[in-house]
Amino acid sequence: MELTDVILNRRAVREYTNAAIDRATVERLIEAAVLAPSAMNLQPWAFAVLLDRDRIEGYAKRAKEWLLASLSQSSYDPSIRHMLEDPKFALFYHAPALVVVLAKSSGTQAAEDCCLAAENLMLAARNEGLGTCWIGFARPWLDMPATKADLKVPEHYHVVAPIVLGHPKAWPESHGRKPAEIHWLR
Ligand SMILES: Cc1cc2nc3c(=O)[nH]c(=O)nc-3n(C[C@H](O)[C@H](O)[C@H](O)COP(=O)(O)O)c2cc1C
Repeated sequence: MELTDVILNRRAVREYTNAAIDRATVERLIEAAVLAPSAMNLQPWAFAVLLDRDRIEGYAKRAKEWLLASLSQSSYDPSIRHMLEDPKFALFYHAPALVVVLAKSSGTQAAEDCCLAAENLMLAARNEGLGTCWIGFARPWLDMPATKADLKVPEHYHVVAPIVLGHPKAWPESHGRKPAEIHWLR
């Protein structure tokens, strides 16, 4: 696809087919992710990848329960409680793959670098006809020391971008965008 078509047609995908994602596909997407620019070219990212559906479903349940229990202390809008309390709401949308982008340091710009890697990965996925959705709701639970131990990543790494990946059941319509606020300087 042309780059502009990839950008125009990427969507947050929340419904996936049962088709699995293989390691080679994820490796290709991560190759695109690491081409992102990074401050001082430090490339401070790492990737934890789950392709085991049962484990992804288990994580979705545990992260959702943790989020519900901690809602009152968090900065999330309380209205999300309603959505999370729906037993049908699956945090990872039953996707067959989860890629977690981690910052290997607390460097001042490591999170920004990882966001750029995450966007590259999402665009590369769209280019292959695959859907993604960044699951910010899962970040606090994934970033807990016990979860990082489970993921076999060092405790001092920081979870930046949990991204689910799979074959979309359909491509959602665009939500559109507000006009950009531009301050032209003379
Ligand atoms: C930092 C970040 C966190 C997000 N967290 C979630 C999330 O937890 N669950 C979800 O369904 N979508 C999440 N999204 C997806 C956004 O809702 C989505 O990108 C936005 O509505 C625009 O839609 P589009 O990506 O299809 O253009 C997140 C996106 C970003 C960038």
